[in-house]
Amino acid sequence: MGRSCTAERHNGAGVEEDGAHNSRRKERVEEQSLSGKSMGKWTLGIETTAHTLSFGLVDNDGIPYPAASDTLRPDEGGIHPREAADHHKDVASDLFSQVLEKYDLSPSDIGAVAYSQGPGLGPCLRVGAAVARGLATKMGVPLIGVNHCVAHIEIGRQQCGCDDPVLLYVSGGNTQVIARLNGKYRVLGETLDIGIGNMLDKFARNQGIPFPGGPKIEQLANEYLARTPEPSMDGLQLPYAVRGMDLAFSGLLTAAQRLVDNGAPLDAVCWSLQEHAFASCVEVAERAMAHTGKTELLLGGGVACNQRIRTMCEEMSRDRDGESFAPPRMYCIDNGTMIALLGWIELHHRTTELEGSAIDQYLRTDQTPIVWS
Ligand code: ATP
Ligand code: FE2
Repeated sequence: MGRSCTAERHNGAGVEEDGAHNSRRKERVEEQSLSGKSMGKWTLGIETTAHTLSFGLVDNDGIPYPAASDTLRPDEGGIHPREAADHHKDVASDLFSQVLEKYDLSPSDIGAVAYSQGPGLGPCLRVGAAVARGLATKMGVPLIGVNHCVAHIEIGRQQCGCDDPVLLYVSGGNTQVIARLNGKYRVLGETLDIGIGNMLDKFARNQGIPFPGGPKIEQLANEYLARTPEPSMDGLQLPYAVRGMDLAFSGLLTAAQRLVDNGAPLDAVCWSLQEHAFASCVEVAERAMAHTGKTELLLGGGVACNQRIRTMCEEMSRDRDGESFAPPRMYCIDNGTMIALLGWIELHHRTTELEGSAIDQYLRTDQTPIVWS
């Protein structure tokens, strides 16, 4: 079985998937804003691990509200951490006003400020931490630094209502298969070189496709399938790098580039690249389900926006009599709402003092004790 969890089910704003605006949404936002205010304070979440600055909110009951985000999209070349950090500094003030306006709130409605403490790009994380410290101090509310990877997991669990899944976390910088064991999210397998999304973005960039490359690769792969009734891997074979429970993508990137250089059609290579990269992730996820005995699979991270990887996870889980879940796309990509949600959950157990609020670029998924249910 497979489930794409709609935002409708667990969102304060009651939006359709991916934040489509409609009149029903407006009414519900108004309703929720009022009830949110009367019920108590909101938790603000600030996300700045890489290209995206995002402010999100959960209300006093931990109900998530779609974030206000701004992503730096370089015209050419990859991301430069300093440029991304400058972008975040430039737009932070406007974006904060925007998220408050969106839900008819004022700073006095914020009861706590959560931020991504790591992992991520140092200069970008530092901007988020500085903004969070500034806002928390000015508003006189608690501060809480959270683990970005764990936030991806918790928003997925909250949105999809799954209990104890194996997680396939596929983003730009991270590719991990994770399961909760003895109070930590344990990394059972991960990429040994680059993240799957970075691989897709680099391949796309080499073809002149701007960041983010993943969605365009998906589109080209679909175009290839539309014009090829019986697709075949003949002439499109790529290395398949599963090493035990770990993965690798740089060889795949080089080999896919070589196929294009040797004259293979770009859309066909995009199809093959997706099939090989996603199949390797799903294989490790399946082995993790077999080893742990867990029956739920949960996708997270920006690459989880891709319909093909969602379908592969559904098919694999169905074959094992399990169930696969994928959160709404706006909660797969980096967003402040997931940071607000994890902050809200953890605030029942701890806060972050200013002295302990430094960022940690290399924070690991399994460094954060899971003290909540
Ligand atoms: P993290 O810090 O968790 O590694 P990130 O900075 O990579 O996160 P995300 O928003 O989680 O940010 O993921 C962005 C990645 O998702 C990019 O590499 C982008 O190409 C990829 N992506 C987005 N949509 C799709 C899609 N439809 N198909 C494949 N990849 C996609
Ligand atoms: Fe992320």
